[in-house]
Amino acid sequence: MASFDQPQEDTITTPLKSASWSYAEAYVAEDDVLAAARSRAEEVGVAPIGSGGGAALRFLASVLDARAVVEIGTGTGVSGLWLLRGMRSDGVLTTVDIEAEHQRLARQSFTEAGIPSQRARTISGAALDVLPRLTDGHYDLVFCDGDKTEYSAYLKEALRLLRPGGVVAFDNALWHDRVADPAQRDEETVAIRELGRQVAEHDDLVSVLLPVGDGLLVAKKEWNPEA
Ligand SMILES: C[S@@+](CC[C@H](N)C(=O)[O-])C[C@H]1O[C@@H](n2cnc3c(N)ncnc32)[C@H](O)[C@@H]1O
Repeated sequence: MASFDQPQEDTITTPLKSASWSYAEAYVAEDDVLAAARSRAEEVGVAPIGSGGGAALRFLASVLDARAVVEIGTGTGVSGLWLLRGMRSDGVLTTVDIEAEHQRLARQSFTEAGIPSQRARTISGAALDVLPRLTDGHYDLVFCDGDKTEYSAYLKEALRLLRPGGVVAFDNALWHDRVADPAQRDEETVAIRELGRQVAEHDDLVSVLLPVGDGLLVAKKEWNPEA
């Protein structure tokens, strides 16, 4: 008997999937401030999160009623804008980037969006030098989008920084379709694949790999009194 919940096999065509993917990416529209942040990213050669991933970040920050968020990889502020717009109106984004110039451009994006300066704490430096200085168990959400080869190290830091029930998210979890292809063995692909394995097998994490943009891996830190 035919199921009315599933589309017929012959209606699932590649062009339809491609159109649906584009439709989903554009479902939550971006405004002029985000467009300006994106063009600054292009000028300095930074790849910002896509609009679908950005909308997912805003959703997560909103669902968590996030008061404190850490971002690794500020860029020119595209993901930061999405996060700040989902957080509580008094929430503070702590965002880390190794390039001070990128952070200058991100601050410009935040100012254009009318975000009070005290809501965005920009820290310039290498993530693995800065993160150990942040407070244990204080954060609702950690978003990772820095050096892909350091993703496993970011996971370790995130588990320390998050409160129980907090969420860690990694952009580029599908890394240009390379992660799913076992023939791809470059350093970044291998690192992201290894991160995916660690997250999936972690006893204290409930995870989902969202196929938005270039892939957003999301995991909730469960309460574990023995951890
Ligand atoms: C993909 S971009 C971030 C884009 C940003 N999240 C967005 O969506 O708008 C990566 C950023 O990470 C920064 N970065 C690279 N390696 C880093 C490291 N080890 N520590 C901190 N930041 C790093 C780069 O300077 C760059 O701005």
